[in-house]
Amino acid sequence: MLILGIETSCDETGIALYDNALGLLGEALHSQVALHNEYGGVVPELASRDHIRRVVPLIRQTLNQAQRTLADLDAVAYTAGPGLAGALLVGASVAESLAMALKIPALPIHHLEGHLLSPLLGDNPPAFPFVALLVSGGHTQFMSVEGAGQYRLLGETVDDAAGEAFDKTAKLLGLPYPGGPALAQLATTGHPQRFALPRPMQHSGDLNLSFSGLKTAVSLLIKTHGSAAHADIAASFEAAVVEVLCSKALQALRQTGLKQLVVAGGVGANKQLRAALTSQLARHGATVAFPPLHLCTDNGAMIAYAGALRCLEQGIEALPTHQGFAVYPRWPLATTRGQTPPGV
Ligand code: KG4
Ligand code: ZN
Repeated sequence: MLILGIETSCDETGIALYDNALGLLGEALHSQVALHNEYGGVVPELASRDHIRRVVPLIRQTLNQAQRTLADLDAVAYTAGPGLAGALLVGASVAESLAMALKIPALPIHHLEGHLLSPLLGDNPPAFPFVALLVSGGHTQFMSVEGAGQYRLLGETVDDAAGEAFDKTAKLLGLPYPGGPALAQLATTGHPQRFALPRPMQHSGDLNLSFSGLKTAVSLLIKTHGSAAHADIAASFEAAVVEVLCSKALQALRQTGLKQLVVAGGVGANKQLRAALTSQLARHGATVAFPPLHLCTDNGAMIAYAGALRCLEQGIEALPTHQGFAVYPRWPLATTRGQTPPGV
């Protein structure tokens, strides 16, 4: 069974082909970082227009790379939300049109479900059940994952997402968009213990998190110490985020009695976070799995894979072909399959 995956929720056009028996057959990604760079963040209208330019050529390129044609497809999976409405509509319209023309099912996929399942595309995929830590630019949450489609929210950020905190702090430090990787790079040259930044909600007793206070603390430090301290501030900020995420991750495992953590989303690419989780969980007899580095940030492979699992689970014959479609810019990750997404 061959699934085409299309991701256009934000600033990356991601396309992939996943075969249930053979695995990932082809992938293509176009990042809009250069396009949005001069604005210091994603400009939604520019994002949609660029997705329109890229999506069909990238589908062709991926099919050629995998030596497959449109006629070989069994279903088309696409990100239906959450994300930027106009950007989502590009992927949704292309996917639904292709599916209608080919008389195959189109599968609307939740972007976070894609991230959540992406570690299963790695070499040593974790088995269900596990605790997932989703850390992206828009979300930071702990989920208990019993199986594909069975997700229970354990706790989440009450304000900024971890990636958003990285991006906003990076902006304060004068670093280019997207700020996370740039801040992490600057932090390698700084002293993480120089500034004792707050560890918000570390001892709140629940699995919720908060990051917005950190950027206020950082802006005060910048005013007091000036640019000479930027690397130390970056390192101290990163250390604070990593420490809070590690301690809450341990708490999530204790609370659920599970022994496996799976990390997904763009901040999962952070090297300090990876190292700290790996060593601290090992000390507690638990393991941590990360997606392959290139699948941490947005990509088509995770969407194709989520679509493939849905086909296996529900049976491809049972999936409806064309019914009309909508996108869901704000869509909480459903606890089980079959829950109707809210209106746009
Ligand atoms: O999952 P993702 O690609 O897009 C969303 O769905 O949000 O995550 C992007 C986020 C951005 O906030 C970016 O700054 C952050 O992930 N990020 C990082 C690193 N690489 C990406 N944050 C910290 N360290 C990194 N190495
Ligand atoms: Zn994402």
